Amino acid sequence: MLHAVIMAGGSGTRFWPRSTREHPKQFLTLFGDRTMLQATADRIAPLIPSERIWVITNDRYVSLVRKQLPEVPQKNIVGEAVAKNTAPCVALAAALIREQDPDGTMAVLPADHLISQTDSFLSILETADTKAREGHHLVTIGIQPDRPETGYGYIEFDKDSSESYRGPDIKKVKQFREKPDQQTARQFIESGTFLWNSGMFVWSAGTILREFGRHLPDIKKQVDQLRPAIGSENQKEAVDAFYHACPSISIDYGIMEPSDDVFVVPGSFGWNDVGSWKAVYELRDKDRDGNVIQADSAALAGATGNLIQSDSGKMIALVGVENLAVVETEDAILVCNLDEAQGVKQIVNQLKEKE
Ligand code: GDD
Ligand code: MG
Repeated sequence: MLHAVIMAGGSGTRFWPRSTREHPKQFLTLFGDRTMLQATADRIAPLIPSERIWVITNDRYVSLVRKQLPEVPQKNIVGEAVAKNTAPCVALAAALIREQDPDGTMAVLPADHLISQTDSFLSILETADTKAREGHHLVTIGIQPDRPETGYGYIEFDKDSSESYRGPDIKKVKQFREKPDQQTARQFIESGTFLWNSGMFVWSAGTILREFGRHLPDIKKQVDQLRPAIGSENQKEAVDAFYHACPSISIDYGIMEPSDDVFVVPGSFGWNDVGSWKAVYELRDKDRDGNVIQADSAALAGATGNLIQSDSGKMIALVGVENLAVVETEDAILVCNLDEAQGVKQIVNQLKEKE
């Protein structure tokens, strides 16, 4: 059966001051009235019931996840004592799922992406699941790129390998390249044979553990040691020991790059990884002057193309400025050029140094 593993342990720095270490992006309602984590669970509900949803997050966020997803069984919400990026998280989830469902497949999903066309997304997930199940392959979901973004992984597919299942194409992956530099990303885009990696994967628990054995044997060894403790009263202790012992590495660098058994399902379902305030600006409805106003009270004069976000009730006024993000919380005020919204990360790093 198909399970979902929602990776929700990121500490998200680019939505400061709205996102903080205690409350990162996946737990915020940036769109609508559901948080990004809740929207992730809602979206897959027609395909995957809550008993088969697993959420791996930092210990710090376990109670937040329980509160936001009360329908997910508590045993399926697992806390990490230390953040070790996504590879240990995937290995642990695979071990937990295999214990319960030896032939189970898993859709590995980030907790903080936006998808506007749920039906197309679910049909792609089903196609990926069929492929993962039939051939014991690793399957990733690819997105048609439109710019040489350096914050994404790239997937080169074999042009001649198209297989048309029920619906979308499936292609054999020639190479997977996580976060190339600008020049390489440009070459990839020009070649026409590269897709972006959406960061969503489908495989069977057994297959991904096999790949850990091949490419990340240290993590495989640790997960094998943990296995007897699964479901016992020592599970938390064993999971903590697992995290302390694992190296910190992403699934993209650790498994997807070196593996030669990868397929990609190209998808088009209104995907956005909402990477910065600029993305929020672009995704929201604008007024006549191109402003996005998410505040109880705001006054503007000759101001165009700005994003205002505040829930303090304070009056926010902008005069004659353009292309700004103005974000106000109880603790801080951010004023930022929307085209430099990635720089918010630097502020968070500076604040960390001062701690
Ligand atoms: N449990 C857990 N533990 N989850 C984590 C951890 C961790 O230590 N670190 C990150 N995550 C979660 C994040 O919350 C997010 O949902 C997901 O894992 C992906 O991590 P990111 O840190 O957002 O990865 P990225 O954006 O740099 O890159 C990935 O996504 C891109 C698309 O958005 C890669 O898969 C790229 O190849 C891909 O293009
Ligand atoms: Mg991300």
